[in-house]
Order: sequence, then structure tokens, then C-alpha cells
Amino acid sequence: MERTYLIKPVLDGNYPCISHGKGIYLYDEQGKEYLDGSSGAVTASIGHGVQEIIHAMMEQAHKVSFVYRSQFSTSVAETLAKKMSEISPGDLHWSFFVNSGSEAIETAMKIAIQYWQEQGKGTKQKFISRWMSYHGITIGALSASGHIQRRGRFEALLEQYPTISAPYYYRDITNQSIAACDDFYADELEREILRVGSENIAAFIAEPIVGAAGGALTPSAEYFQKMKEVCDRYDILFIADEVMTGLGRTGKMFAMEHFQVVPDLMATGKGMSGGYTPIAATVISKKVMEPILHGSKFIMSGHTFSANPQSAATALAVIEYIEKNNLVEKSAKNGLYLKEKLKRLAETSDIIGDIRGKGLFIGVEFVKNKITKEPFPRAMDVLNQIVQTNFKEGLLVYPANAGTDGINGDAVILAPPLTTTKKEIDELIARFARSLQKIESELVKEVI
Ligand SMILES: Cc1ncc(COP(=O)(O)O)c(C=O)c1O
Repeated sequence: MERTYLIKPVLDGNYPCISHGKGIYLYDEQGKEYLDGSSGAVTASIGHGVQEIIHAMMEQAHKVSFVYRSQFSTSVAETLAKKMSEISPGDLHWSFFVNSGSEAIETAMKIAIQYWQEQGKGTKQKFISRWMSYHGITIGALSASGHIQRRGRFEALLEQYPTISAPYYYRDITNQSIAACDDFYADELEREILRVGSENIAAFIAEPIVGAAGGALTPSAEYFQKMKEVCDRYDILFIADEVMTGLGRTGKMFAMEHFQVVPDLMATGKGMSGGYTPIAATVISKKVMEPILHGSKFIMSGHTFSANPQSAATALAVIEYIEKNNLVEKSAKNGLYLKEKLKRLAETSDIIGDIRGKGLFIGVEFVKNKITKEPFPRAMDVLNQIVQTNFKEGLLVYPANAGTDGINGDAVILAPPLTTTKKEIDELIARFARSLQKIESELVKEVI
């Protein structure tokens, strides 16, 4: 292999170079085709090489690509903020643009603290989050993340925010109803608030549907209503992390719409630009903005590239494309089709334990024993083998954690672009089924 100076996830890993992408497919320099069954990291939501987006990017580049937000605004950033206000639920009217999901979470955390400070409640600085969560890799966002592997090396730097469970009915349902599970989760939140003291807590932070840390763990229709009720009772804000689930991914523009709860703050990113440019947003409710507007009038955060017009034009074009092509509705409809096909596949598989998720955001959990739900031990590296076998088969799937201890347990997320047709889903399933067959015969027969 030629000498490389580029830091990649596995430093001596062999990563094919992609030459181009078209629709739901990527092609490497050797001509191999990959069906983008995960939209990369659940990002390339409208597929690759869409002409309208390329055109909008060029048009903006001809005007201006960068202005500094402390000196100027631009009509394109203003229009994007207006669009975000229109498509976001409830009174989530204000947008703070940043460059990554991690920054969107950090910004939400800072604004939550500031919201309380502006009202003379400066001790409210802590957060409550859930085990089995991932909110980003920067120190603040990682502090809120219960992803044990990603925290591991930096534990000494991190706050201990993850303290309660995420809803995991597949494992928690034993001898009780979903409603009883939800009551348990809400009680856990209340106990934690009482333990830490509500006077010290700024916000509860959660992904509507857990991504990387749980393989699309999906709550019931009532779960968030119960959690929000506890938050309201103790004067605690609710931050929804829609970085992975936002912009149509789950069959609604934002996943919280499934649960009919409007968060106080929302972080989003990834599909917001469909991967055409780095941009993310913290979307802030009128309620949270009000004391700041009447107080310091200044939010203490920001990045050099915040609200830069090049990214704003790209995101705006992507959101308009999603609307024009009814991709939210398509995600809901084709998601049902994908889920149904996966469920059929699970019936004949020895290792698929659970299929879950909404829209085109589907988690597949693998277990060593379908009856006891015992996960594969991490040492077997099953997840890596599943991802690699699919990769060889020309299918990209997104690796996720599963199991309750945060170490053992394997899941993948299937999240193809929202533009994926039924025919393309059939092709995705065919490749996934072939990989599964190989994995089951080559790897699993030793342990079952
Ligand atoms: C739910 C969630 N929040 C936050 C992040 C962090 O986003 P980024 O990688 O853009 O910093 C991710 C990334 O995977 C995510 O899935």
C-alpha cells in the first residue's frame, strides 16, 4: 500500500478510495459498487450527486462562500433559519448554525445553562442522560453520552451524566407491559432528579430513537410524554438529540413528532445537508429564547464557520429537495416495506433477535441465542464481521451497540437514502440476506 498521511479510523486499515457516487450507490476507484444502505453515517439522506444541490452550491459559491457572523448576516442564512422554524415542531423557532452534531449538542447544553442563569438560577448546570446514548465526541457531548467504548479513554475528563436507562423493551419487557416499563423509566428519571437535586440540573437530554449506542431503540408513543411530565414537574429542560433522526429519516420531519412532545431545545445535523457540506443546528424554543432576549441578548457560543453562507445554501437546497420530492412520506412508506422484509428474513435467521425503528431508520439486533436473547460476547467481534461481510457483498450497514452492559451485544442500522425505491430496497435485502447466510454458516455454527 502507498504511504498515507491521512488519519483514518483504523490506522493500518485498507480503505477503498471512492471515485464518485450516484443516487444510492458509491463506486470505488476499482469500479466496485456499494449500495449505501446506511447513508454513510445516516447522513446522505437524499443520495449522491443530486444535480439541484450541486447547482445551488455553485450558485452560492459565485456570490460569496464565507462571511463572519460577528460582522455580517446573509439572506441565505436568514432564509435557512426561517425554513428551520417552519419545519420544526411547536415553538422551536430559533436556529444557531454550527458544523457538526457534537457542536449542536454542546451549544444546546450551553444555552440550557444560560437559560437558567438569565433567571437567577445559576446552580442549574448539570445534565441527566441515558445509558445507551451517543451525543457526540467533544468533551461536553461525550459527557452526556453513555457509549462506554467511546468514553473509555477520556473518562477522567468527563462528567458522569448518563445515569438512567433508555427504553429497551426487547430486553426489559419480561413479565411486564410496555406501560409498566415506561413507568419504570420515568420513575428512574424522577429518582435521579431527587438524588442530584433539581436546583442543580439544567436539562434532560435524549435521542428520540437511539442510534449508534442502541441500534434504533424505539420508545412507545407514551414514553416521552411521561419523561417530559417529570421534567416539567421539576423545572428541567428537555433537549432532543435529532442529529441522526431529523429531517425525515424516521418518516416524520423530526422524530419527536411521533411522540407528540415538543422539546425545549433540539440538536440536528447529518441529514440536514445530506452530507453535501458540514452543517448542523441547535434549534431553540421561544420559551428558552425569551429570558435571553430580555436579558443579556447574547448567547455565549459560536464557531468561525457558524452560519456560513456556503453551507446555508446547501442545507436550504437539501431541505427544499426533501419537501419537493415528498421524501418524509416516502421514508415512512418505504420504511414499512423495508421493515417487513427484514422481519421475514429474521424468521429464518438463527441470529436476528429483534427488528425495530421507524421510517428508513431500522435497527437489527443480533443475538447468540434467540430464546434467551444472550448477546454475542464482544471478544467474538461479530459486529465487525457482519459489517465487513456486507461490505464485501457491496452493502454499507452502520454498526451499533446493543445489549444492556454497553460492551457485549451487536446491532446494525439500515438507513438508506430517503430516495431509495422499493426495487432498490429489494436489492438491499438480497445483499443483506446473502451476507447473513455467509455469517451464519461460517461464523456462528461454532457457537450455536
Ligand atoms: C444522535 C447523535 N448525536 C450527535 C452525534 C454527533 O454528530 P457529529 O458526528 O456530526 O459530531 C451523532 C453522530 O453520530 C449522533 O448519532
